[in-house]
Amino acid sequence: MTEEYIWRCVLMLYCALLSANASNWLYLAKLSSVGSIRDEETCERLRGLIQRQVQICKRSVEVMDAVRRGAQLAIDECQFQFRNRRWNCSTLETLPVFGKVVTQGTREAAFVYAISAASVAFAVTRACSSGELEKCGCDHNVHGVSPEGFQWSGCSDNIAYGVAFSQSFVDVRERSKGQSSSRALMNLHNNEAGRKAILSNMRVECKCHGVSGSCEVKTCWKAMPPFRKVGNIIKEKFDGATEVEQRKVGTTKVLMPRNSQFKPHTDEDLVYLDPSPDFCDYDPRTPGMLGTVGRQCNRTSKAIDGCELMCCGRGFQTQEVEVVDRCSCKFHWCCYVKCKQCRKLVEIHTCR
Ligand SMILES: *[C@@H]1O[C@H](CO)[C@@H](O)[C@H](O)[C@H]1NC(C)=O
Ligand SMILES: *[C@@H]1O[C@H](CO)[C@@H](O)[C@H](O)[C@H]1NC(C)=O
Repeated sequence: MTEEYIWRCVLMLYCALLSANASNWLYLAKLSSVGSIRDEETCERLRGLIQRQVQICKRSVEVMDAVRRGAQLAIDECQFQFRNRRWNCSTLETLPVFGKVVTQGTREAAFVYAISAASVAFAVTRACSSGELEKCGCDHNVHGVSPEGFQWSGCSDNIAYGVAFSQSFVDVRERSKGQSSSRALMNLHNNEAGRKAILSNMRVECKCHGVSGSCEVKTCWKAMPPFRKVGNIIKEKFDGATEVEQRKVGTTKVLMPRNSQFKPHTDEDLVYLDPSPDFCDYDPRTPGMLGTVGRQCNRTSKAIDGCELMCCGRGFQTQEVEVVDRCSCKFHWCCYVKCKQCRKLVEIHTCR
């Protein structure tokens, strides 16, 4: 073996370890079309899956397109919830999807893990309800007459199936580590908290039957909250996340609040181990760390979307841009609305 060969091996191993990121399966979102995961052979070729996930893929090929949609849902929701923050959840075209930004045990990583675990549970459950899958359908455990006197009927979302699938698929890497490292404990906790955001917010939807819409007979079913609501809940948990550290209680390792004055976190809260970087500057050595130059900011806001905080004190530029809007709309008998096109100037502020 030549020296060069040995070095190349060391480098390759190092890179493999670096990219060994438990949220790599989110790369599935980069696959283009519906039904693109059709057979077991496709599972082998998917980028971002670890071996155990490839096995799950082969066993449940029909579910994988829902997993892909879940990955997309997670990324979209992350970008929506973080649109006004310095780190705005932008993705790369390479692995890992969020670059190196969520490889530390930060609050942001906590959010990404929670929203991803939730999105898979959500998308798989949706696929069950829509009759797309042979393995699952509506939840038939919800039946009969409720204590409130209505009839359970219609398709109740089979959240138990979606959650179980998310647990086996998303948590697989952490579980295989034997739950030893504090980071594995953090990820597992946040995955579970993400799924709880759906489970604890299931709702009852009803339909009335009877003469001309009277509610003589009411039939109801259990439904998941809209995913935007799930995103809002997890974002709130992000804002109030608890900093934790690993302690030994007897022979088991657990995560406890770093500050003992704080009340312990619940199963539904997010936890993190490491403080976040300030996300102010572009860093070529940290893929995904784009910095805030060129980001739009709000001149009057004192919050993180305000120019002061968003631009990290570097200042901002103001531009006037013309926007075209509909205005002076008039209703014409009968029945259409006619509007004029108005041009107006608005000021846009961007970080230096
Ligand atoms: C996120 O911010 C970067 C600049 O830091 C910008 O190029 C990108 O368009 C933003 N992405 C989203 C999804 O807003
Ligand atoms: C800017 O922030 C202010 C104060 O928080 C808010 O009222 C306003 O709607 C924001 N403007 C935009 C364009 O988001």
